[in-house]
Amino acid sequence: MAQVLRPLSDKFQTKDFPALLVGLGAPDDAAVYRINDTTAIIQTMDFFPPVVDDAYTFGAITAANAMSDVYAMGGEVLLALNIAAWREELPLELLTDIFRGAADKVAEAGAVIAGGHTITDDEPKFGLSVTGIVHPDHIITKGGARVGDLLLLTKPLGFGLITTAGKNGVVSDAHLQNAIDWMMRLNRGAAQAMQEIGVRGAPDITGYGLLGHAYEIAEASGVALRFHASALPVVDGALEYAQKKQIPGGAGRNKLYLEGKVQFKHEPNDDWYEIFFDPQTSGGLLIAVPPAQIDAMERALKSRGATYWVIGDVVEGTGIIVES
Ligand code: CO
Ligand code: CO
Repeated sequence: MAQVLRPLSDKFQTKDFPALLVGLGAPDDAAVYRINDTTAIIQTMDFFPPVVDDAYTFGAITAANAMSDVYAMGGEVLLALNIAAWREELPLELLTDIFRGAADKVAEAGAVIAGGHTITDDEPKFGLSVTGIVHPDHIITKGGARVGDLLLLTKPLGFGLITTAGKNGVVSDAHLQNAIDWMMRLNRGAAQAMQEIGVRGAPDITGYGLLGHAYEIAEASGVALRFHASALPVVDGALEYAQKKQIPGGAGRNKLYLEGKVQFKHEPNDDWYEIFFDPQTSGGLLIAVPPAQIDAMERALKSRGATYWVIGDVVEGTGIIVES
C-alpha cells in the first residue's frame, strides 16, 4: 500500500500543510486537521462487503467499526455519511435495514448521519465516512507508546474466525451472537477514559490483527511490544473454528507481512497461533498506559462500563515478542 500512496505523499508534503497534524506522512487510524488552538477535526472512512448475514447487524457493526478510528485517536464523533453499493435485484428493504443499524449506532455515539451516497454494484458494500473532533494537543497516536507502558486491550480476539465460520455456515448461533455483541460495541468509553487519564498511544485492532497493529505501534514509537499469550482474551468458539480451519483470507497476508518481525519465546499451538493474526472487524483498542496511571485508567474504564484486559507491556527493542 505504501508504494501505491507514494505519489500522494510526494505531492502533499507534510511541511506544506502544517495544519494537517496526522496525514500520509505518518499514517494513523484517521487524518487529523487543526482548525484552531482548541479544535482539530478527525476524518476517516471505512467500507466493506457484508461480514454477517443480517442486514441491520451488518449496518451496526460497520458503523461501530468506522467510528472506532475516531475513538482510537482519542476523539468524539460529530457526524457521519453513508456510502453504499447495492445490487439492483436485491430488496431495498435490506438496504434500509443496513442504514437503520448504522443510524442506531451513530445515535448511540451522540452523533448524526448527515447524508451519503449509493451506487449500483454487483457486490453489496456499506460503510461510513466519519468526522470527529479532538483537542489538537491531546491527539492519541500509534507513536505514543513508551518503554514500561502496560498494554490494555478492550475487546477479545477471534472475530475473524467466527465470521468466517459464519460465512461457511458452520458457526453456532451462540458463538456468532456473542461475537456480534462485541463487534457492535462502541470504543467510545475507552476513548473517553484515555482522554481523562491522558494516555498517549493506541490504535484499534482491525484488519491487520493484534500483532499487525501492535507492530504499527512498535515501529511508530521506536519500541518493542511484549505480549503474554495466556493473558489474551478470546471469544467463545474462536479456537474451535481455528482447529476446523475457518481461517479468514486476511490472516495469510498478516502472517506474511509479520514474518521475521515476531519472536515467539514459546511457540503457540496451531489454533492459538491464529488468534495473533486474526483480522478483526470492529475490534478493541490496544492502549499503552504508563504504569503510574494504570490504576486511574482501570477506574476510568470501569466507570464507563468499558471492558479491558492487561495483555502485555512495552519494552526496549524492535518488533513483537510473545511469551507464554
Ligand atoms: Co484503525
Ligand atoms: Co479504518
